[in-house]
Amino acid sequence: MKVFTSMTQWQTFRQGIKEHPLGFVPTMGALHQGHLSLVEASRETDLITIASIFVNPRQFDDKRDFDAYPSDYQSDLEMLEAAGVHFVLMPETGQIYADDYRFKVTESEFSHKFCGAHRPGHFDGVLTVVMRLLNLVRPDNAYFGEKDYQQLKLISDMVAAFFVPVNIVACQTIREEDGLAMSSRNRRLDKKSRQLAPELYAAIRNSATADEATEILLEKGFDVDYVEDIADRRLAAVRMGDTRLIDNVKI
Ligand code: PAJ
Repeated sequence: MKVFTSMTQWQTFRQGIKEHPLGFVPTMGALHQGHLSLVEASRETDLITIASIFVNPRQFDDKRDFDAYPSDYQSDLEMLEAAGVHFVLMPETGQIYADDYRFKVTESEFSHKFCGAHRPGHFDGVLTVVMRLLNLVRPDNAYFGEKDYQQLKLISDMVAAFFVPVNIVACQTIREEDGLAMSSRNRRLDKKSRQLAPELYAAIRNSATADEATEILLEKGFDVDYVEDIADRRLAAVRMGDTRLIDNVKI
């Protein structure tokens, strides 16, 4: 496995890659089995698998959340290597945003709903970094988790809108044994919150309506950002202290 911290070096190297298909798994690190399932999906389909680790400051609407975002590069790289990743990109912020974020991708409808309504600028940051990373990697397939359902939909819509020649592959949510969706932020939960956290999944899965799920969550002591049904999905976000958890289920 080769790790690139210089994107200039990566771009030169990229020109020499002739093998296809090429798969890409963008991440913000603090990796867990959810991330690795995306790598595994790529390893099954692609000849070459590339991952990136970049904690994108532009998608954090809350500086405290950015500062507290977990990172463990040593263990991340070991996990990626064991999973069979060929190349890892670990750019610094200045390399991704040499323009100081003068240019961005903005979506004006769906990105303002659900998580977007509670996190101003978040999805502009996500879409912009994903567009930049896709241009750096030029993969045939790019893998994203259904765990971040709104993000997945927005990225699919963006690549269609801009004719980006990449196939977006949706991967199902990987959960802990008690049902909690795996997330890098779970590491920040204290013991009591960690015990309560699986109730989010239970509530959205077992309730007849979004309102009923909201009531149950409020009763259990969650701060509810939203629970809403769109098409065949129920999406939810809650806060436990400083930590925000999201989840969704097919209904
Ligand atoms: P991050 O939260 O690190 O997640 C990277 C990818 O892993 C995303 O596609 C996410 O949906 C997926 N993922 C996370 N937890 C998962 C789980 N439990 N099961 C399945 N997939 C899971 O999402 C981001 O980073 C960033 O917004 C990014 C797309 C990298 C842009 O900065």
